[in-house]
Amino acid sequence: MNKSIEALLNDQIKYEANASMHYLAMASWADENGYNGVSEFFYKQSEEERLHMTKLVKFVNERSGKVIVPGLEKPKDDFGSLNELFEDFLRSEMFVTEQINHVIFECLDKKDYNVHNFMQWYVTEQLEEEAVARTLLDKLNIIGDDKSGHYMFDRDINTIATDVEVEE
Ligand code: FEO
Repeated sequence: MNKSIEALLNDQIKYEANASMHYLAMASWADENGYNGVSEFFYKQSEEERLHMTKLVKFVNERSGKVIVPGLEKPKDDFGSLNELFEDFLRSEMFVTEQINHVIFECLDKKDYNVHNFMQWYVTEQLEEEAVARTLLDKLNIIGDDKSGHYMFDRDINTIATDVEVEE
């Protein structure tokens, strides 16, 4: 495997691991603050990011590359509001998308169509995750500071997220 692509894939492993820990901290904050639906959503997101990380680890090994398992970074674990939580979520997903685009660019530059093909799964996944994050943040922006709106958002979040995923 080309060394620059291997390095980028190892960076991607780290970003997915960081996203997993970030969402675990979000799930825990929501749990602590009584938002059970939001917490369930982020526990699930955290698991998904871990799967994204593992999928990359297995792929690099299959291609006889060298995996570097990253150390844990302490994620932000205090959020001022549900809005802040979901703004962070969208920002995090946009960052991951940018990094994936970077890997794709390098694959084309180095003519590694095998890795390019593998990365298409991540491109599709990011489209979906950004759409979910944007939809949820849009809903929160409509709700504003209304507490009963937050109550309903927490009750419905997992249905809203699944509906966005199905529409994709
Ligand atoms: Fe795997 Fe949503 O980044």
